[in-house]
Amino acid sequence: MSEKIYIETYGCQMNFADSEVVGAILQEAGYGLVDSLEEADFVLINTCAIRDNAEQRVRHRVRELRAQQGRRRSLRIGVLGCMAERLQSRLMAEEDNVSFVCGPDAYRRLPSLLEQVRAGRQAAEVELSTTETYADIEPVRLASNGISAYISIMRGCQNYCSYCVVPYTRGRERSRDPQTIVDEARRLFDDGFREVTLLGQNVNSYDWHLAGDEGRVDFPELMDRVAAIDPRLRVRFATSHPKDLSDRLLQVMAARPNICRCIHLPVQSGSNRMLKLMNRKYTVEWYLDRVEAIRRYVPDCSITTDVIAGFSTETLEDHQATLDLFRRVRYDYAYMFKYSLREGTYAWKHLADDIADDEKTRRLNEIIALQGQIALENNRIEVGREYEVLVEGESHRSKERLFGRNSQNKVLVFDRGDAQPGTYRTVRVVDCTAATLLGELV
Ligand code: 5AD
Ligand code: SF4
Repeated sequence: MSEKIYIETYGCQMNFADSEVVGAILQEAGYGLVDSLEEADFVLINTCAIRDNAEQRVRHRVRELRAQQGRRRSLRIGVLGCMAERLQSRLMAEEDNVSFVCGPDAYRRLPSLLEQVRAGRQAAEVELSTTETYADIEPVRLASNGISAYISIMRGCQNYCSYCVVPYTRGRERSRDPQTIVDEARRLFDDGFREVTLLGQNVNSYDWHLAGDEGRVDFPELMDRVAAIDPRLRVRFATSHPKDLSDRLLQVMAARPNICRCIHLPVQSGSNRMLKLMNRKYTVEWYLDRVEAIRRYVPDCSITTDVIAGFSTETLEDHQATLDLFRRVRYDYAYMFKYSLREGTYAWKHLADDIADDEKTRRLNEIIALQGQIALENNRIEVGREYEVLVEGESHRSKERLFGRNSQNKVLVFDRGDAQPGTYRTVRVVDCTAATLLGELV
C-alpha cells in the first residue's frame, strides 16, 4: 500500500497554489493524498515567513503535532515554503520533531527527500532557482469547489521593499511559458471551472520572450489571451505593484468584461517619506494617478490594498497621511498589518524598529476602524443595484442560502431558490454589512 501524505497550507494564495503542485509531484511519485491527519504517514506544512506571527503559528502547530507523533511513532513532519527557505536546517535543530525542510523552488526533489527520510535521515533541500516555474506540472486541485482555481504565472520577487523577506525566500523573478498558462486555464474551463486567478508576487512584471524575434508576451497580452478562452470564464489576478500598473492593462480590462473588476494595489503607506524608506519606488501622487486611471478606464472597478502600521521612524504625521489616503481612495477592502521586523532585510540591517508595539497596535486599530466605516458606506451605496454573481456554494450560516461573488469580488448571500453552484445568476442587493451584501435572485 502506498504511503499517505497530508498537506497543510498557511500564508498567501501563492502557497495554496504551490501545495497543489506539491500534491501533483508526490502523487506522480506514487504517494496517496489524504485529507485527514489521522490517515497520514507524512504531514507537509507549507509555511509563510512574511511576519513573525505567521512563523509563530507554524511553530505552535509543529509542537502540537508532537502529541500525535507520541501516539504514532511513524508519523513524520516536513516543513515546506518560505519558512523552510528562511531557516533551512536551523529549523530542524530548533524543532526536533521536524524530519525535513524543502524550499519553494525544490519541490521536484520531494520524492527523493522522502526516500531519505524513510531511510532514517533528516534532510534539507533549499536551493533557489532562476528558472523553475513548475510549468509542466498539472496541479491537483486540493479542497477545490470545482468552480474557481489558482494558476501561478510567475515566481519570485526582486523589488526588495526594505521590510520584506520574500526576495530572500522566493528568489529571483521569473515568468512561466504563456502557452502552458493558457492551456491550463482552458483545461479548467473544459472541466467546468468558471473562475481562474492568475498569481504572482508581482504579476505586472510578467514578461515572456518568444523564441527568435517573435516578440514577447507581457502581462496585458497574457490577460487578453486567457480572457479570450471563453466569455463565461472569469479571470482575476493578484498582486499588482503600483509602479508597474500600466494603462495597457486597464485598456485590456475595459475591452474584456470577463476580466474581473477588482484590482489589489498594495499601498503600504500614505506618506512619501515612508514610501521612500520602504523602497517602494513610487510616490503618493503616482499612486493616486494610478487610482484615477483605474476609475477612468474601468469605472466599476473595486480597489483593495495592503498597508503597514508603525514602520521604522513612522511619525504621527506619517500615520495621518495613511489615514488621509484611505479617506481619498475609499478602498473596498484592505489587509492591514503591524510592522514586523524580518531578519536579513534591508530594514533589519539599517533601520530601527523603533515604534513601540502598543503604539503600532493603536495606529493599526485606527486604520481598521476607519476602513470598516468606509467599507460599510461603500456597501450601502450598493443597495438596490443588480449584479451578475458566480454562485459558489451554501452560505456558512444557513443551508437555505447560497453565496457567490460579483465581478468586484464582493460576497453576496441570497435565498437559494433554484440557483446552482457553478452558474451565473443576477442578484439584487437588498441589505448589507461592512463585509457582505445581502441579496435576492432576480
Ligand atoms: N511586516 C508587516 N507586514 C508586512 N508585509 C510584508 N512584509 C511585512 C512586514 N515585515 C505585508 C505587506 C505586503 C503583504 C503581503 O504583507 O503589506 O503587501
Ligand atoms: Fe508568506 Fe510571502 Fe511566502 Fe506567500 S510569498 S508564503 S505571503 S512570505
